[in-house]
Amino acid sequence: MRTIIKNGHIFTEAEDYQGDILIENEKIVCIGRNLMQDMDMNRNGGVEVIDAEGCYVLPGAVDVHTHMDLDVGTARAVDDFYDGTVAAVCGGTTAIVDHMAFGPAGVPLHYQFEAYKKLAQGKAVIDYGFHGTAQHVDDEILAELETMASDGIPSVKVYLTYGFKLNDAEVYRILKKMKEIGGVTAFHCENHDVIEYLKQKYRDEGCTAPIYHALSRPALAEAEAVGRVLKLALLAGDAPVYIVHLSCKESLDAVREARRRGQKNIFVETCPQYLVLTEECYRREDALKYIMSPPLRTQEDCEALWEGLADGSIQVVATDHCPFHYGREKQMGKDDFTACPNGAPGVEERLSLLYSEGAAKGRISMHQLVKALCTEPARIYGMYPEKGAILPGADGDLVILDPKGAYVLTQERMHGAVDYTCYEGFRIQGEIRKVLQRGRVLVDGQRFLGERGGGRFIRRGACLL
Ligand code: URP
Ligand code: ZN
Ligand code: ZN
Repeated sequence: MRTIIKNGHIFTEAEDYQGDILIENEKIVCIGRNLMQDMDMNRNGGVEVIDAEGCYVLPGAVDVHTHMDLDVGTARAVDDFYDGTVAAVCGGTTAIVDHMAFGPAGVPLHYQFEAYKKLAQGKAVIDYGFHGTAQHVDDEILAELETMASDGIPSVKVYLTYGFKLNDAEVYRILKKMKEIGGVTAFHCENHDVIEYLKQKYRDEGCTAPIYHALSRPALAEAEAVGRVLKLALLAGDAPVYIVHLSCKESLDAVREARRRGQKNIFVETCPQYLVLTEECYRREDALKYIMSPPLRTQEDCEALWEGLADGSIQVVATDHCPFHYGREKQMGKDDFTACPNGAPGVEERLSLLYSEGAAKGRISMHQLVKALCTEPARIYGMYPEKGAILPGADGDLVILDPKGAYVLTQERMHGAVDYTCYEGFRIQGEIRKVLQRGRVLVDGQRFLGERGGGRFIRRGACLL
């Protein structure tokens, strides 16, 4: 099967130019001008031609932070690997790396891997990988990090809060091992003890409204944990460290300080919600929609994060997609914010928001957008250049974006299972026209054309530092 995308304005992380892209047998084989002139149109049953005149052509976006079908004990995220990946691809994302949930206490890493294979296989409509989740550390787990890597999972997530948080010695041991095997350790950074104390204090005082979710998880409690992890990574010999969902200026300061000291191998992710929403959401009637950790911050933090993206301090924008119905699971928190399952949807809105609020408003360039949504996540997590690139040999994963299109974002336009979007009413500049995975059109306008189970497991390699 051959597909040609002609006359598009092609954007990569470093270049942009007018041209055509030829995809054959799922891979990009050629990029150039007037490719159709040189082609034998009748070979192998001809070629599907897509005219991208007036549109931007970007690599398929890669979301390295999702929680499909996440079981948090009291609730289960409402997007399974089918609904969630349909939403993802309709928003221009052609690959995800999902953070596997905690399993029963004491299980080996492969226990969750086996469980997640069953959750994703036959459902995911786009290509997918998983991050391991470390919930305890011993010699067996450390040895298993190596076998997980050879099974295509060269990354592991560590939580510094929640039930299975690790202590400093455990963190250090994981970091050392992951460095040895060329893998990356991802961290949810918040100071657990301070947060638990503040949550209890507010509850004791009868302060149970959603705003206390934000007040019990202050920015400095995040920044303290970011600084601690960075020092532990330095202690472990400059081990690669990836900070997930960084949300505030103070945490960014800690990252910049570590880099100024000369520390390398630090990767930073933020998410659209921290760029465009603020803690004012917790004062709204529908505040429960926005209960996530870390919480939304201030306008000043949003501005600092945009600057961090523009100056290269932040490498990746992922989503932390973790949807619970507002009308159902989220209501568990109506009398007590601590009972509300943490997390919010966003897998479909990411590219549109980053283009509309970022590139179209001049806060970041199109190259920076491609870098943060496509190329860096693929490179850091061992999928480059198959994913995240427009190069001969890369997978034919592409997004065709019309910069002149515009619409109002509403829940009705969304394709996932959840009953709300955090961005209701946002005026979006730019409209996705088509999304291709391995040369096949999976999205045409707002129509999903792919098939259940069409996605493949991505056997990832070492981190490209
Ligand atoms: O509130 C959030 N972010 N829920 C998902 C799990 C996590 O912490 O990433
Ligand atoms: Zn987290
Ligand atoms: Zn998460």
